[in-house]
Amino acid sequence: MDKTKNNEFLIMHVVGARPNFMKIAPLIRAIEKHNQKSYPKLRQILVHTGQHYDEKMSALFFDHLGLPRPDIDLGVGSASHAVQTAEIMKRFEKVLLEHRPDAIIVVGDVNSTIACALVAAKIEYTNHHRRKPLIVHVEAGLRSFDRTMPEEINRLLTDQISDLLFITEESAKENLLREGITEEKIFFVGNVMIDTLLHHLEKAQQSDILEKLGLKEKQYALLTLHRPSNVDRKETFLQILEALEEISREIPIIFPIHPRTQQRVKSFGLERFFSGFLGGRNDSQIRTIEPLGYLDFLKLMSLARLVLTDSGGIQEETTVLGIPCITIRENTERPVTIKEGSNTLVGTNKGKIIAAAQAVLNGAFTKRKIPPLWDGRAAERIVPVLAQKLLEDRPR
Ligand code: UD1
Repeated sequence: MDKTKNNEFLIMHVVGARPNFMKIAPLIRAIEKHNQKSYPKLRQILVHTGQHYDEKMSALFFDHLGLPRPDIDLGVGSASHAVQTAEIMKRFEKVLLEHRPDAIIVVGDVNSTIACALVAAKIEYTNHHRRKPLIVHVEAGLRSFDRTMPEEINRLLTDQISDLLFITEESAKENLLREGITEEKIFFVGNVMIDTLLHHLEKAQQSDILEKLGLKEKQYALLTLHRPSNVDRKETFLQILEALEEISREIPIIFPIHPRTQQRVKSFGLERFFSGFLGGRNDSQIRTIEPLGYLDFLKLMSLARLVLTDSGGIQEETTVLGIPCITIRENTERPVTIKEGSNTLVGTNKGKIIAAAQAVLNGAFTKRKIPPLWDGRAAERIVPVLAQKLLEDRPR
């Protein structure tokens, strides 16, 4: 039976890697809320590609974020870019043909995002009023203009084949228009990652992670580092570590260490920089711990004196929390965090990283503005646009 006769549509959410979970959670909640009082009904189904699979990179986040268990797990695991993307595509095609959703929602810029969008763009449904699902990209239009980043390729290509593009900041609109995307497809709605942050901030304060680690508010710096451009080449990684070592003489650094970075530390023999979980020295003030769950990490971030990172999402989260953020990258796809937020881009030069951290420690930083529409309601703005589009596309 054609579902649309009942005024009901099927939405398929795709998640794959750690940062996806925070972005899909508020959308699932907003759709549930929509269904309580509005039409059309939007049935939901959650697909996990399995790009991230460790308990600490995946399952823990489902628990903390209150995400339902995935209805379908493709179980792809890690591999080279080509193999991982191809495996997701092969497995996702079967799922699409079996369930024939009216829309798929992909978020962010990981391999799972482009892989599933690309399958959807070329699928041919039979016995369905749609030829293919509507492709919805949430967090569209961000550009680092650095095509050596795998994520930049994923962003560019996903946006080209999406039907609805939801953006987090004004710069994204300029980027999309320049690339020939028509204005009617673009919607400035705010930031779903910030929806999740604001939703969980109070609960995160109950985490006892500071006590567990023996830390005091504002007396530590928090570090994350996992970009291939920073950790996959020994010389670059070493330069960053030397800077961090210098900074750690003034303030201890807590480092929840991503699996990619763990592997590089071991293969390059860099354990001497660290104490803790992966450390080779007890007296190092750069203390490694295992990757943290969402609530513990949020608590640590919200009470840090300073955050050093190469993550995309953390630049946004620190902006909302008003915590000084030093981004160890040459570029950012999130310029609003610099223009209006608490982010400083320093690159990988040792002297520049140290100088930026010292400026913060000397009190140079002043809290700045929260970007427009980063108010916790992005998902609520997305759902009616999606519902309307599905109704418009419906056969009459
Ligand atoms: C991926 C995303 C990146 C995102 C990051 C967040 C792409 C191209 N990259 O990078 O944008 O910022 O996730 O974490 O999609 N590994 C584990 N356990 C896991 C997952 C990975 O041990 O659960 C190890 C594997 O050995 C793997 C390596 O970490 O080879 C890297 O994982 P991968 O998913 O390939 O890329 P990330 O660096 O995590």
